Amino acid sequence: ALATVRTVAELRAQVSEWRKNGLKVGLVPTMGALHEGHLALVKTALETCDRVIATIFVNPKQFGPNEDLETYPRTEAEDAAKLASVGGHLLFAPNVEEMYGADGGVTKVSVAGLGDIIEGEFRPGFFDGVATVVTKLLLQALPDEAFFGEKDYQQLNVIKRFSADLNIPVDIKGVPTVRESDGLAMSSRNAYLIREEREIAPVLYRTISEVSERFKVGGKAEALSKWASQQLIDAGFHKVDYILIRKADDIAQEAVKGEPIRVLAAAFLGKARLIDNVG
Ligand code: PAJ
Repeated sequence: ALATVRTVAELRAQVSEWRKNGLKVGLVPTMGALHEGHLALVKTALETCDRVIATIFVNPKQFGPNEDLETYPRTEAEDAAKLASVGGHLLFAPNVEEMYGADGGVTKVSVAGLGDIIEGEFRPGFFDGVATVVTKLLLQALPDEAFFGEKDYQQLNVIKRFSADLNIPVDIKGVPTVRESDGLAMSSRNAYLIREEREIAPVLYRTISEVSERFKVGGKAEALSKWASQQLIDAGFHKVDYILIRKADDIAQEAVKGEPIRVLAAAFLGKARLIDNVG
């Protein structure tokens, strides 16, 4: 059975009891509106952890002034049922005041460089908001392991970096992207797509997969990125923020042929801003 707690005190009481019994604890942070991608993180956590905590917190600090904080889908009852069905043990769902205190908090975690490029350029302050809340969640729960999706590849790398820099004693684990049968990466924001847009959406994955393949057989990064951008526009995307071919282990650097790469992309389709990446 899945219990829900809303305070850090209750969360810590449960984790200490598990710890005392020698149980290994996993943490899966989310913003809710759970889909199979989120549930894959929970299932992966259950492979190595005896107890798995999911968190649901729509974090105001990672939303820009013109982003969708107010309309972000909130479906806690359904989320709790899904977590229970895959064997999750605890849901931590604090409110904003429990997380940040009455004055909102004045301390932030910021990853210079990695947090400012790519997504960080298009969403200023986004990774500071993510890094601050994930630091708090890791310190509130102090799990053995915490699980994040490769769907948000730069986010995963930002989290690994501040956890190492701050000596946070939690193993950060990446989980492969879960996709719909047509290739579209699962995302809570896919709910914003109307039917016509939903049919166009998988072009993003198909296009970056083709970029990756062509780069590996000798294609030039700049030409491929231009070509891909046009493919998306032709398909019906109305704005492409970026399509980049980078080193997999350091996305600040251009890809080098023969070494692991990551193709990262973000583009607008209707009201939704879709992001995706492939190796
Ligand atoms: P959210 O978008 O709810 O995603 C929660 C976790 O699920 C993240 O680690 C994300 O990468 C992962 N995820 C989302 N879609 C996925 C998919 N299709 N396949 C695999 N994993 C997927 O990312 C956030 O929330 C927030 O920024 C958070 C880390 C919770 C901090 O507020």
